[in-house]
Amino acid sequence: MARCLEAGLPVASACSGNGACGKCLMTILRGADALERPSPREKAVLAKNGAGADQRLGCQCWMPAAGTDFLITTGYW
Ligand code: FES
Repeated sequence: MARCLEAGLPVASACSGNGACGKCLMTILRGADALERPSPREKAVLAKNGAGADQRLGCQCWMPAAGTDFLITTGYW
C-alpha cells in the first residue's frame, strides 16, 4: 500500500490500512512469491471478501526493498 501511494497510485481503504475492510484488495500479477505469506488476520479478510488465490490486501503485505519485479493491479485503476 505504501509503495503504491508513494508512486501516486490510489489505494482504496475504509479502515486506514488496519487490515479490516478489504477495500485495498490487489491482484498480484508478478512477484507474489517474494511476499510473506498472509497472516491469519489477512486470510480471514481475504476470505470474507471472496478474494482469489492471486489477491492480497495491499495494506497487509510488504514488498521487499529491492530485487523483485512486481506487477499488481486493482479493480479501480
Ligand atoms: S485498507 Fe482496509 S483492509 Fe487494507
